[in-house]
Amino acid sequence: MMHLTTVVGARPQFIKAAAVSRTVRKDFPLQINERIIHTGQHYDRGMSEVFFDELQIPKPDVNLQVGSHGHGEQTARMISRLENEFHCNAPDAVLVYGDTNSTLAGALAASKLHIPVIHVEAGMRSFCKTMPEEINRILCDHVSSLLFTPTPTGLNNLKMEGLVHHRQIPNDIDHPGIFHCGDVMYDNCLHFHSIAEKNSHVLVEFGLQPGEYHLVTLHRPQNTDDPERLTRIFAAILQLTQSSGRKTIIPLHPRTSMLLKKSLPLNLFSRLQAENCILALPVPYFDMLVLEKNAHLILTDSGGVQKEAYFFRKPCIILRAETEWKEITATGSAILADADPEMISRAYSRFQSSPPQSFPPIFGDGLAAPFICRTILENLG
Ligand code: UD1
Ligand code: UDP
Repeated sequence: MMHLTTVVGARPQFIKAAAVSRTVRKDFPLQINERIIHTGQHYDRGMSEVFFDELQIPKPDVNLQVGSHGHGEQTARMISRLENEFHCNAPDAVLVYGDTNSTLAGALAASKLHIPVIHVEAGMRSFCKTMPEEINRILCDHVSSLLFTPTPTGLNNLKMEGLVHHRQIPNDIDHPGIFHCGDVMYDNCLHFHSIAEKNSHVLVEFGLQPGEYHLVTLHRPQNTDDPERLTRIFAAILQLTQSSGRKTIIPLHPRTSMLLKKSLPLNLFSRLQAENCILALPVPYFDMLVLEKNAHLILTDSGGVQKEAYFFRKPCIILRAETEWKEITATGSAILADADPEMISRAYSRFQSSPPQSFPPIFGDGLAAPFICRTILENLG
């Protein structure tokens, strides 16, 4: 029996972890014993607990209750508490997801104790090191023993940094195993989308007609913490809501909620609330899947939402200057528009005149999680 410790802490990690955790319990209950540690990076019920309930992830064995702090303090508190946990429970391997401070903390704490690190969503790069996630990804990949990358671009990025696949078994930090396996978020989307439709009433709740609204999410500090960028983005959203006659729903990340009130000009903030823009709390996963599946178009700076837009074959305007998910923009179904109202408006018009038609299977076959579990057992077990 392999003792695997999963470290999660932020919303997208709960969702990614659900796919592997479900597979462990269904297909490998005698081979893998999973222990889940929640760092406490996200803690509001709507940012954390709701995902454990809905996606039926076992309750975390431990919550380190680290909470919100500056990067250094938050990561340091996580590392110190994780180190203690790993000392007490001596896992055979530590599994981390994505690129948050919880990912980095898990990877650093484990690797310094010579515990093999498994990184799911390895190799993704924005080539923009002012993004905190870019630093987290690079550092995590370079201390991992097993790296699972969702896309060919991820595989190539690792190769460019000198990370190559070693056939040695077991793999270790100096001889990592690197595998292209598809995306666990796609596994989840296939598994949950019809369950979501049966259980969610979100369209009725917000008075939305299928195909007749825009969905927006925004939470990158680069957008939220810069009042000028934030104002430009929301002015563009208001403009396209008015000119299209369609509603726009915006489930707000708590970071964005806080800064919206503080940084937007008062008249823009009040017009947003008056004119067919719905400023909502973060929604649970099932509601989000239904909102994505029925949207006319999606605008986002989220990594996960860019991918889900693609899974549901929706045009997507990316509110960033670059993306890690280059395969999506290459198909033409998503357009980078940064925080530029002109580019946002042009991208919108382009999608009206020629909606994207081509959605090749970039993210695998929906079986990334079973592949990951088998590979962990074969290469570290
Ligand atoms: C984090 C990740 C980011 C990921 C995002 C997913 C890092 C560096 N960033 O960003 O990669 O895309 O999660 O959502 O790890 N807050 C609450 N309640 C909560 C959580 C946060 O009110 O439950 C507020 C706090 O004021 C906090 C702020 O949101 O300071 C930011 O939270 P934090 O976890 O530091 O970063 P995110 O922006 O959520
Ligand atoms: N999500 C959600 N409710 C929301 C916003 C997002 O369930 O109100 C889900 C979304 O469907 C996706 C994930 O959260 O699965 C993306 O996480 P987020 O945008 O917070 O972070 P990122 O992917 O950018 O790291």
